Amino acid sequence: MGNCLDSPARVDAHATPASVVSKSSSKASRSSNLSSLAIPLSYNDSSLPTPRSEGEILSSPNLKSFSFNELKSATRNFRPDSLVGEGGFGYVFKGWINEITLTASKPGTGMVIAVKKLKQESFQGHKEWLTELDYLGQLHHPNLVKLIGYCLEGENRLLVYEFMAKGSLENHLFRRGPQPLSWATRVKIAVGAARGLCFLHDAKSQVIYRDFKASNILLDAEFNPKLSDFGLAKAGPTGDKTHVSTQVMGTHGYAAPEYVATGRLTAKSDVYSFGVVLLELLSGRRAVDKMKVGVEQNLVDWAKPYLGDRRKLFRIMDTKLEGQYSQKGAYTAAYLALQCLTTEAKMRPRMSEVLAALEQLEAAKTSTRSSLTQHHRTQTSAANFHAPNLKPCTPSLPSPRGARTH
Ligand SMILES: Nc1ncnc2c1ncn2[C@@H]1O[C@H](COP(=O)(O)OP(=O)(O)OP(=O)(O)O)[C@@H](O)[C@H]1O
Ligand SMILES: [Mg+2]
Repeated sequence: MGNCLDSPARVDAHATPASVVSKSSSKASRSSNLSSLAIPLSYNDSSLPTPRSEGEILSSPNLKSFSFNELKSATRNFRPDSLVGEGGFGYVFKGWINEITLTASKPGTGMVIAVKKLKQESFQGHKEWLTELDYLGQLHHPNLVKLIGYCLEGENRLLVYEFMAKGSLENHLFRRGPQPLSWATRVKIAVGAARGLCFLHDAKSQVIYRDFKASNILLDAEFNPKLSDFGLAKAGPTGDKTHVSTQVMGTHGYAAPEYVATGRLTAKSDVYSFGVVLLELLSGRRAVDKMKVGVEQNLVDWAKPYLGDRRKLFRIMDTKLEGQYSQKGAYTAAYLALQCLTTEAKMRPRMSEVLAALEQLEAAKTSTRSSLTQHHRTQTSAANFHAPNLKPCTPSLPSPRGARTH
């Protein structure tokens, strides 16, 4: 599936990146490629990705076109108390629609939706807005957030999603207030998120997600994770190409070092970002935390030396777990994270391998007896343990280069 807005020439023209550009600061062009190619596209199709025109994307049979007034009534006039979040793109409001007619319903009745409203001043977001519609209009999977429709009226651009009752993983891991996530829930989230990425990578026309991070993993009422925000998604390389070249976009701390340094994007860039999120799940720390000092500001740099050493692993584990996690499970996950974070992209596992290892970990239902009391016992068995299905990796890996803030 192609990015409908980038001609190949334009993509290559951006291939010398200087820094990671966040979505909020990206200069997405409004002058979209409106050339009309009336070829319907399906991700299950064996044909090569086909770019679609704006008109084709907007007329997708899977998406409802809402009027601005409908969404105004659905969200009680975008009242501040309907606001559930804010990101680089805009504000997210809670609303209600009738689940059959998909028209605005009385607040509190019918189906709950999340309405993302592009900030008025942020006209630059049009390209990402359209890319989101293009991908989510066609991709359907239990671990991808469901896009219900959109509104394009004058300067108003909105997206309408299923409402994810527990909000983002970021809120649960790093904000004070909500009950800390248990070990079992963290594993469940890792498995589901890996499934979502696996689905994208394994599609016949590979999709690279490019923005895998805790704030883009949304959780439903049962903590099932779903990937959201496809504004940066990109078609994977086709034919005998090994990568796509593109302007470096993404989020500092999550983007793979070789992608930041060269602009060469592969599915292994997503694998790296997955490793970072796995570390966030283990440690309860942000990928980048400017409030910390020295090496602790960058989670990967700080945690890497502990990941392959079962005796030291407890030092980076989230204290909010209060020791209630399976030591074996934690080491499997840490070891997996280390593999995902390997500097050489080719040496990283594929998402299908990562998923298999995590599913095995989840199925093992290893005891969550206090890790503190078990600490001495694990010291003796550490040397014999390896994550399932994965080759052991080099004990000390160089730290990633190049990621810079913008
Ligand atoms: N479908 C949804 N259901 C419930 N809450 C949502 C939904 N989509 C977004 N949110 C909430 O709104 C917040 C903002 O989301 P948004 O995607 O706009 O920004 P972000 O992911 O935090 O940052 P970025 O702009 O870098 O992606 C999320 O963190 C989440 O709490
Ligand atoms: Mg987001």
